[in-house]
Amino acid sequence: MIKIAPSLLAADFARLGDDVRRAEQAGADMMHIDVMDGNFVKPITIGAQMVAALRPHCAAFFDVHLMVAHPEYQIADMIKSGADGVTIHLESGGDTAGMLRTIRELGAQSALSINPDTPIERVYPYLEQVGMVLIMSVYPGFGGQAYLPGSTQRIAQLHGEIVRRGLLVDIQVDGGINGQTAALARKAGANVLVAGSYVFGAEDMAAAIRTLRAEA
Ligand code: DX5
Ligand code: ZN
Repeated sequence: MIKIAPSLLAADFARLGDDVRRAEQAGADMMHIDVMDGNFVKPITIGAQMVAALRPHCAAFFDVHLMVAHPEYQIADMIKSGADGVTIHLESGGDTAGMLRTIRELGAQSALSINPDTPIERVYPYLEQVGMVLIMSVYPGFGGQAYLPGSTQRIAQLHGEIVRRGLLVDIQVDGGINGQTAALARKAGANVLVAGSYVFGAEDMAAAIRTLRAEA
């Protein structure tokens, strides 16, 4: 099943409560919450306090994508605030396996993200410890960038490895996803699609979400 995760980065930050409700009603499966710290990436976005404030407005899965230098500082607060899943970056360094374990022990889904420049094989040692791998299809930091074409091959390679090992691990893709690139990512084996500008910029959000799922 294809799951659609609109990225709140493209929502109206003065009306986030309304926008998560709107996205949920339009058929979104998850809310993708991009957390940036001004260090791992240049911008600063959303913290745990905002996640807690949004929680009562939406019943969908809260998918927190940590683009931060010290994910270990954020994990417990994010889950306490209502995150259902927490994604950390391989490139953040630190004790990746330990942080993934902490996420699970606190009752959330653990996920690991990888930047476009990092060899895809570097996630292989963690595949047994995650519910999802997030393949970045742009360099993290900003919405509205173009999908990097090399991402399709990386998705296919990871998908092959997951199938070969008989694992049940979701493959999420994030960055530059629209009607065309969603089709490439789905065919390669991605089953969780993040889309910011394509969903929040759409006149008909429900139709945009159906297109991403290939239902339209
Ligand atoms: C980039 C973020 C993405 C981004 C996606 O660092 O992780 O989630 O907001 O935005 P679009 O879909 O506009 O590329
Ligand atoms: Zn993201």
